[in-house]
Amino acid sequence: MDTKKILTANLKPGMVSSEAAYTFSNHLVIQSNTTLTPDIIDKLKYYAVKSIKIYMSEDGPYIAKQPEELSKTDNSEKPSGDSTYFERIQQSNEFKEFKEIFTISVEKFKKEINELILKNTTDIISDMLKETNTILSKARNPLHLLDMLQCLHGYDDMTYMHSINVALICHIIGSWINLPPADIDTLVTCGLLHDIGKLKIPVKIITKPGKLTDEEFELVRSHPQMGYDILSTKDLDERIKLVALQHHERINRTGYPNHLTASEIHQFSSIVAIADVYDAMTSNRAYRKGICPFTVIATLEKEKELYDPGLLYLFMKRTIEAYINVEVLLSNDEYGKVVLINQNLLSRPVVVTKNNTYDLSRDFSIDIKALI
Ligand SMILES: [Fe+2]
Repeated sequence: MDTKKILTANLKPGMVSSEAAYTFSNHLVIQSNTTLTPDIIDKLKYYAVKSIKIYMSEDGPYIAKQPEELSKTDNSEKPSGDSTYFERIQQSNEFKEFKEIFTISVEKFKKEINELILKNTTDIISDMLKETNTILSKARNPLHLLDMLQCLHGYDDMTYMHSINVALICHIIGSWINLPPADIDTLVTCGLLHDIGKLKIPVKIITKPGKLTDEEFELVRSHPQMGYDILSTKDLDERIKLVALQHHERINRTGYPNHLTASEIHQFSSIVAIADVYDAMTSNRAYRKGICPFTVIATLEKEKELYDPGLLYLFMKRTIEAYINVEVLLSNDEYGKVVLINQNLLSRPVVVTKNNTYDLSRDFSIDIKALI
C-alpha cells in the first residue's frame, strides 16, 4: 500500500500510521500500523511531532475505522473491561486457532526429534521447518506472535514446547537483523535443536520442582555437551551443532560449558541465548495471566552484561515498542497509559494517569504492575 507524509495538524481519526513516530529526543510516541484516535492525534500534537507517514488508498488516506467508532476515551481512570491484556488475547479466535496448530506441532515435533536422534535424515529437518512456518503464518506480526506465545500454558513436557518457542523467537530476531532466508532457516533449526541434549536426561530431573542435588545439577548442565555429541555425527550445518554446545555461554565468561567470551561465541548462539532466556521468563507457570513485559525487559536490562549488547538492545527495543499506548496498572494502584518509551531505559516508560504523569526512568518509587 502507498504511504504519504501528512502534517499532524491535518491528521484525521481512522487514518493508519505506516511508520513509528518519535519525538525530537528519540522517544517513541506511536508504533507503525496504529489506527489514529482523537487521543493519539492530541498526543502527537502535544509531543510536537510535526508529521507522520500514513497509508494511502486510491481515493486518499486509508481509513481503518470511521471516526464515530473511535470515541475519545476518558484518560485511563479504570481498565477497559473485566479482562486483562493477555486474557483478551487468550479469548480471541486467532489465539484459539494458533493454539490448535501449535499443539499439533508439538506432538509432531516430539516424534521427529526422537527420530532424528536415531537416524540421520535431513528430511526431518525440512518437515520441522514447515511446521514452524505454519505456526508463524497464524500470527499477524512478530509482536502478536510473542504475545500469543506468552498465553500458551499447560504442556507437560516443557522441553519440546520450549524448543519450538525458541525457534519462533529466533525467526523473529533473524528477520529483525535482516538475515537471508536460508540463514533464518538454519537459525530456526538451531532453536529447534538447541536443547536436544536434555532428552538424554531423565524427565523427572528436568521437571523436578524443588532444588536439584549437586549431581542432578551437574547432569542438567551437561546438556549442551550431550546435545553437541548427538548432533556431531549428523549431516547438519555446523552452526546447528555449535549452538547446541554454546547456547549457555555468556559474553562475560560466566556461562558454560567452556566459559567463552564474546568473540568466541557464534552470533547464532547469542541469538538462541536471548530467545532461550526470554522464553524461560515469559513461560514461567507462576504467572498464569502472563508476566508483564516491562518486568521481563527490566530483568534483561539488569542482566545485560551477559548477552550480545547489540542483539539484546534490538530485541528489547522492538519487543517493548509494541506496548506503546497500552493501559497499565501501576504499583500505586493508579491506572494509566504508556505514552512514551525511554530509549535509554526501555523498561521504564512515561505513564500518564488521570491526575499525574510519571516518567518511570526518573521516578523509581513506582513500577508497572500489570498490563490491563
Ligand atoms: Fe539449554
